[in-house]
Amino acid sequence: MTTGDTIMLGPRKSLDAVLRHDAGQALAKTLSWPHLIALGVGAIVGTGIYTLTGVGAERAGPAVILAFAIAGAVCACAALAYAELATMIPAAGSAYTFSYAALGETVAWVVGWSLILEYSLACSTVAVGWAGYLVGWIESAGVHLPALLLAGPHGGGLINLPAVLVALGVMGLLLLGTRESATLNIVLVIVKLTALAIFVGFALPAFDADNLHPFMPYGFGSVESGGTKRGVMAAAAIVFFAFYGFDAVATSAEEAKNPGRDLTIGIVGSMLACTLIYMAVAVAAVGALPFTQLAHSAEPLALVLRSLGRPFAGHLIALAAVIALPSVILVMMYGQSRIFFTMARDGLLPRSLATLSPRTGAPVRITLLTGVSIALVAGVFRLDEIAELANAGTLLAFIAVAACMMVLRRTAPEAKRLFRCPAPFVVGTLAVLGCLYLLWSLPQATLLRFLGWNAIGLVVYLAYGRRHGLAAQR
Ligand code: ALA
Repeated sequence: MTTGDTIMLGPRKSLDAVLRHDAGQALAKTLSWPHLIALGVGAIVGTGIYTLTGVGAERAGPAVILAFAIAGAVCACAALAYAELATMIPAAGSAYTFSYAALGETVAWVVGWSLILEYSLACSTVAVGWAGYLVGWIESAGVHLPALLLAGPHGGGLINLPAVLVALGVMGLLLLGTRESATLNIVLVIVKLTALAIFVGFALPAFDADNLHPFMPYGFGSVESGGTKRGVMAAAAIVFFAFYGFDAVATSAEEAKNPGRDLTIGIVGSMLACTLIYMAVAVAAVGALPFTQLAHSAEPLALVLRSLGRPFAGHLIALAAVIALPSVILVMMYGQSRIFFTMARDGLLPRSLATLSPRTGAPVRITLLTGVSIALVAGVFRLDEIAELANAGTLLAFIAVAACMMVLRRTAPEAKRLFRCPAPFVVGTLAVLGCLYLLWSLPQATLLRFLGWNAIGLVVYLAYGRRHGLAAQR
């Protein structure tokens, strides 16, 4: 069952063991590549481009365009590593499962624990962002809602009820089964992309080169001042949020009909498409308005259109955000429930959580646990803090994936790889160094919280996971 154990890193799963599951605990193969591209784009395009473009402009000036390019390039390297591993190890669990096979149980636990930050906190962040758009809409119609129910204690209220409700609603969709949810997701993806196309179509003709000077008012490196970091890298560390999500495709590998072809198209295709779309949106936004006007807007894209005398188009963009942002929550929550499912199946979390519904094939208990936790966080905490912590968790997972790809090239050179990353050691090293640089560019408070989260994780692992995982089964 295991190979190459070390005392430090815990047992490793053999590649065979990763791909073999007990009857009744394997997920049904229902997804093909259009579903996977839609899953990828559905997870990627969201609060990042719709709202963090303004925060990025505040931190980097017009060079937010460069910040998008840097974050996209780092993610592209990570995406290639993901594509190789997802087609080589098409089992649920993504970075967690890869780490179990390549680096051992302890590292896998740390990665799985970080993936909780990525998936769950991204869901909570988008739920809070969505609630902001929705409340803006309702209030602009002259209806005033009780303030206590519109923000958590950190925002001066009691609970952010709309955010809680959207998270619980998406959880309900997932409980209906994967196929139905993925099909609805395709419709929402089309809405989001159409809105961004409308934005670029109206904003680009108003491009004024003067708005790009000075291009880098805060320099390149990330410099902390007064609790905020500024510079191109500080912006890249924030807008990084806009790019991840493609790895959610890898978490569905076990449910892909034809993993070799479908996953490669799904991961690399959705990544490239989004990078191009973001560059176009960023150029259109900072070209149309001085960045200082974008900097403090909670709805920068709508602001640009209104400032250009296109209030109706601005309205459409906001409506698209309200309709379509739940698709991001859908995909990320789907990924999170599959990672919890895999960790429970491995014994690192209670195994009783991994039972599947005989009717839909969905892991019901895990999905309930995931959805309710995400709703609680969204109901209580502040958006910016959760987003930065989600970025930290994601960066660690990307580093692990790139490391796993390089390690498995050495330790399992003969294993069948349906997709081979070009120049794997160059791409893998660039991904690791790029992610480390982005991690370092996050605010210090975020890095401290991230360390605290991992310390809690290690205590949980030592108290439970280590006694019930592979090490305990031998
Ligand atoms: N990339 C996703 C977003 O921008 C998480 O919302």
